Formats: sequence, structure tokens, C-alpha cells
Amino acid sequence: MGHKIRRTPELRRGTLKRVIAIYPGSFDPPTNGHLDLIGRGAKIFDKLVVAILRNSDKNPLFTVDERLEMLRECTSQWENVRVESFEGLLVDYARSCGAQAVLRGIRAVSDYEYELQMAWMNRKLDSTLETVFMMPAGAYSYLSSRLVCEIAALGGAVGNLIPASVESRLRERLGVAERARK
Ligand code: PNS
Repeated sequence: MGHKIRRTPELRRGTLKRVIAIYPGSFDPPTNGHLDLIGRGAKIFDKLVVAILRNSDKNPLFTVDERLEMLRECTSQWENVRVESFEGLLVDYARSCGAQAVLRGIRAVSDYEYELQMAWMNRKLDSTLETVFMMPAGAYSYLSSRLVCEIAALGGAVGNLIPASVESRLRERLGVAERARK
């Protein structure tokens, strides 16, 4: 004899899903553009894991622990956002988090080719993982961590490009580097 399932409003509207997304990157340092994207991701995903890559061959300005601290400070207003670090393949880390999607930001057409290549490659490695692209606010379409560091190192103003807590750490780090060169 078959079970009669009571059709509650939730069931009538279809299956309820919880979508977990990963927002991976170097975040060296986190910028307002990253935070803008995190806010947008937090709005559409049930849970967003901001994931800092550990095994990068780049020569980072901030250690992974420093970047973890900065991002955790700046994202504490979103209850569904967690900040972690990972090493190895992104698809493996996504699987270990139970994530169904990867979130990446596209600022301009110039980002598209690299992002598309990564998305295709990740799909080849795991066809169940979707990549979702979002655009940051127009004001951040030219913003990158690399340019922020360069401008700050040359004495330019970066106050409206990065959070205040990140700016003071950046000034401190660059000041230390400057003193070490003298
Ligand atoms: O902020 P970035 O440096 O553009 O982020 C690049 C990142 C971390 C998303 C990418 O390098 C990555 O996913 N690395 C993990 C290793 C991996 O899975 N490589 C294959 C990607 S197709």
C-alpha cells in the first residue's frame, strides 16, 4: 500500500534545496570588490565558503593566517559566510564542503578568458560542480589586490578601495618593507 504524503505548501512548491557555494581566491589582500561579491553571494546562496588558496606559488604579501583573520573580521556581518583556507584541487575541496557551486567575479571582458578556462577545467574535473559568475558594483570593476598594493606602496590613497582594517595592516606591512630596504 503506497504512502499518502501530505502536500504541505513547501512540497507543492517543489523540492527545498540548500545550495552551498565556494568563493575561492588569493585575497592578498581582500578588497572592497571581494566584499561586494561576498555580499552578493551571501544573498543568493544558503551558505558561502570564502576559501583562501594555501598552495599558491605566488609570493604573497600577507600570510594565509593574516588573510583569514582580515576576511573573518570583514565578513562577520553575514551569518551564512564562513572563511577557510584550502590546498590542492578546488573541486576536491568543494566536494569536501558539500558545495554545489563555485562563485567567481568577472569585472571586465579581460577577466573572461581566464575565468572561462578555469570553469571549463573545473567542469572537466567534476561535472557536478557549477561555476556561477557575478559582477561586482561598477565602482570596483577596475579594482585588484595587485593594484591596491602598488598604489599604496607608491604613497597613493587606497582608503575607498579596501576596508579600513585591511588598510592599516597594508600600511604597516609596506612600512616595514620600506624600513627593511633602508
Ligand atoms: O584570486 P585568484 O588568484 O584568481 O584565484 C585563483 C584560484 C585560487 C581560484 C585558482 O588558482 C584555484 O582554484 N586553485 C586551486 C588549484 C586548482 O584547482 N587548480 C585548477 C583550477 S582549473
